Amino acid sequence: MSAPPRTWTRRDWIKAGVIAGTAAGAGVVVGTEVIAPLLAPPAPTNGTIREDFVYTKFPTPQWWDDRAGQPVQPGDFQVWQGATAVWRGLFRDGTYVEHTGFPVLLIRIIRENTYFRPPDPAPYPIPSGYNLYYDDPSRDLRIVVLFDRCTHLCCYPGWHIADGSIVPPRDYGTYGAAPPTWTVYGQDPVWCLCHDAQYDPLLLTADVNPINGVPFVGARIVHGPGKFSLPVVPVRPINNVLYGGMPDPRWYTYC
Ligand code: FES
Repeated sequence: MSAPPRTWTRRDWIKAGVIAGTAAGAGVVVGTEVIAPLLAPPAPTNGTIREDFVYTKFPTPQWWDDRAGQPVQPGDFQVWQGATAVWRGLFRDGTYVEHTGFPVLLIRIIRENTYFRPPDPAPYPIPSGYNLYYDDPSRDLRIVVLFDRCTHLCCYPGWHIADGSIVPPRDYGTYGAAPPTWTVYGQDPVWCLCHDAQYDPLLLTADVNPINGVPFVGARIVHGPGKFSLPVVPVRPINNVLYGGMPDPRWYTYC
């Protein structure tokens, strides 16, 4: 992979995010900024749909580059580190079939309970053994998994992939909740570069998909123009690998 330009423009980053997202999600592409394809994984006529999260390659150099194609393990992340992956991707002969599955972001958040107050998972159709997030007090690990399609126009939001040459707008008061991820911990929220929607992974909240009226849980929108929260993917560890569990699939039906 070639090195990125010395100073990336907003357009460069949007294109990079789109390429990364389409590598892990369905998609048609792409003009320059607004992308709205998607999204039903193709029928697994030949191959295996994997329920674990598998690292995907990002177009610019990232810390997880050498893990692409490998399953995500909970201990992989430093606090506030995140990565892109695919969930329910189709694999043939052990190789990921591009444009299949659900693109996701996995983010290790800080383990604190002042701001992190997710709703009771009981009312939601979460598969047995799964939870709204991964939590391991013995290792001080907490990981949130988010569906990586923006609730504005379905671009692919990112977690800390910009190189500092551009930063997200922080006029949070205009859009309601100030994100503690930024205001308390100095970490940028999940950021969609297309039009600056932002989502706070510390603020898991109950929401309703306006397309189909289905209640779900997601990372709260803290900066427009996204329309609602970014849905979580329920998660559990099996043999030290993280797996996703499908709740109501309509949680992810809006693109
Ligand atoms: S697609 Fe517009 S902000 Fe994400």
